[in-house]
Amino acid sequence: MAKKVYVGMSADLLHPGHMNIIKEAAKLGEVTVGLLTDSAIASYKRLPYMNYEQRKAVVENVKGVVNVIPQEQLDYRPNLEGFKPDFVVHGDDWKEGVQQKTRKEVIQTLEQWGGKLVEIPYTEGISSTQINKSLKDIGTTPDIRRTRLRRLIGAKPIVRILEAHNSLSGLIIESLKLDGGIEFDGMWSSSLTDSTSKGKPDIEAVDVSTRIDTINEIFEVTTKPMIYDADTGGISEHFAFTVRTLERTGISAVIIEDKTGLKKNSLFGTEVEQTQDTIENFSEKIRVGKKAQITEDFMIIARIESLILEKGMEDAISRAKAFVDAGADGIMIHSRRKNPAEIIEFCNKFRSFNSSTPVIVVPTSFNEITAKELGEAGVNVVIYANHMLRAAYPGMMKTAKSILENDRSHEAEKDLLSIKEILELIPGTK
Ligand code: SPV
Ligand code: MG
Repeated sequence: MAKKVYVGMSADLLHPGHMNIIKEAAKLGEVTVGLLTDSAIASYKRLPYMNYEQRKAVVENVKGVVNVIPQEQLDYRPNLEGFKPDFVVHGDDWKEGVQQKTRKEVIQTLEQWGGKLVEIPYTEGISSTQINKSLKDIGTTPDIRRTRLRRLIGAKPIVRILEAHNSLSGLIIESLKLDGGIEFDGMWSSSLTDSTSKGKPDIEAVDVSTRIDTINEIFEVTTKPMIYDADTGGISEHFAFTVRTLERTGISAVIIEDKTGLKKNSLFGTEVEQTQDTIENFSEKIRVGKKAQITEDFMIIARIESLILEKGMEDAISRAKAFVDAGADGIMIHSRRKNPAEIIEFCNKFRSFNSSTPVIVVPTSFNEITAKELGEAGVNVVIYANHMLRAAYPGMMKTAKSILENDRSHEAEKDLLSIKEILELIPGTK
């Protein structure tokens, strides 16, 4: 009987290195590819460009591959214990980096039945990391970018979004990565920070076209998905046009809040006059938006202001039910308490009757709870809604003051990006 050979791979951007591994594996026996699922990949690196089904369709047709099965985790052990292969074949590049631990576990597991790990020398001159970088340089298309939010929500225990108010803040979100692969998954176009950075109040005074101009600038230099804060969404007839514009631009989701009249920022709570929309009116707006939508992946998320306006938990829950029934693809529940208790209570209540609709939160005031903890409480997306602009402004103010006070820039210099650093910040400047 042919020997059983197991090859674990993501197979997103197939290159000659992968072909070589499969060719070598096929010399040892019958090759089964353990194809990493989107969640397995997202647990340690960027979501793949192609989804599982697309990658499977490609790998199944590679010469030498007999079978393709899903590998649900980065950890090979569950699949190996079920399949008991005689050989596992892998590139020798995993001896270093994030996969070292996985490699050790594979060796130990195979020992239980006398299986062996065979490592193929790394193919010089090509790697998925390089291809990924080149793809980033090329950029993305609106269609590809738009789909990524739903895929991320499906693949990750919690999706982390950070506010971007211009291209430079977008670039930080695009590129910052910690050891272990943790990074922001996407961007938030905040009405508060977009208005503020334009010197205007957060009262729906910056029109959609102006907001889109800024987003187009951000999109020119980034590939990650974006969620758009559309305030109240305006009147339903106008919202239908906004949905089309956002979809066409490649934005993944819009959040509209159930308020009416002159919009004021939620973080004022009951300090300013704010009127909540009726369930009927707001549900109708959601329905109009869903009808206007052309693509399948765009999301309309309903934001509930009941806790902000102190209307109580029951009101929040009944609105959540009604808005999901009206077609909302997600629920954002907002709170301005320092303690996350009411958010957690909402999640528990909501999850008791709805296990699938994504829940989104904006932990500006309840900022001690971690994204991971929110994920464990049933939240799908966490949005850090204003932090990049709040970080930038004090720095600019301090520098401006220092130059005036000292009548020279010498004292301010120590807090600044050096001229060398700024000249090297954007590739191609030299
Ligand atoms: C925004 O960022 O503009 C928001 C979130 O809508 S909040 O400021 O908390 O209302
Ligand atoms: Mg806003």
